[in-house]
Amino acid sequence: MTEKHHAAHHGKKKVAGDKEWEPKIVGFLCNWCSYAGADLCGVSRFQYPTNIRLVRVMCSTRVSPHLVLDVFGAGADGILIGGCHLNDCHYMTGNFHTEKRVNLMERLLRVAGIDEARLRLEWVSASEGEKFSKVVKEFTEEMQKLGPSKVCTDDMVKAKVAAADDASETFRLKALVGKEFNLLTKGNAYGDKLDPEKLTGIIDAATEDEFERALILELARIRPMSVKQLGKVMDIPTDRILRHIVLLRQNSEIAMDHPEGFTPVYKTITIGGEQ
Ligand code: FES
Repeated sequence: MTEKHHAAHHGKKKVAGDKEWEPKIVGFLCNWCSYAGADLCGVSRFQYPTNIRLVRVMCSTRVSPHLVLDVFGAGADGILIGGCHLNDCHYMTGNFHTEKRVNLMERLLRVAGIDEARLRLEWVSASEGEKFSKVVKEFTEEMQKLGPSKVCTDDMVKAKVAAADDASETFRLKALVGKEFNLLTKGNAYGDKLDPEKLTGIIDAATEDEFERALILELARIRPMSVKQLGKVMDIPTDRILRHIVLLRQNSEIAMDHPEGFTPVYKTITIGGEQ
């Protein structure tokens, strides 16, 4: 059942435990526009739901995929990122990079099975207090319809979000997304601009690869597993798992724990070389 179906099934207000549930939303707002917009919203007495907790950052591009996945991993139901309108960023191109980073966050949420509607990016200027209140109201209603995040109640969802978080920290994804804007606008060292569609395909494939490898490590850390077991739990073909295991073994990230008959069972190697 998808998150949306789950929400529709249970109606608008959800129940978590015995208490009536309300969405927990975290808003990261850039200092120069969106935070000032939120401030104006308060001064102008526009109302908005109290479900949101605001965090001020100097620029929207300071919000990394790692931070967002960490906050989802801690149980947030929704995350709002607010920045200056394009071409108005205090740091010139900061919010263009934010767009690229948010694309990666959405990719990672997709592979982790979290509805990407739980993440929203909005441009709100210092004079748009009313817009800020409207955005928060709309987003809160959307989260109420979507229901509680399953991170705290479903171990597999928790493991997937942790894996997406680890994948976001890999050098390959950081380098690709960090250079995406420049590769598309200025080109590579030879001045050749990349085809956006081709680059999207490269980042999509890299995201899937890194996520799957991180999930193998996450699951084999919890309990040793064979290739077949990993394929079944992750619902992906065993030849893909095997390809990942070969690379993880080469990098000394996973090792055989014990054989079960003729089948090797793998365990993640933890820091310090101990299994
Ligand atoms: S300073 Fe507002 S988005 Fe960069």
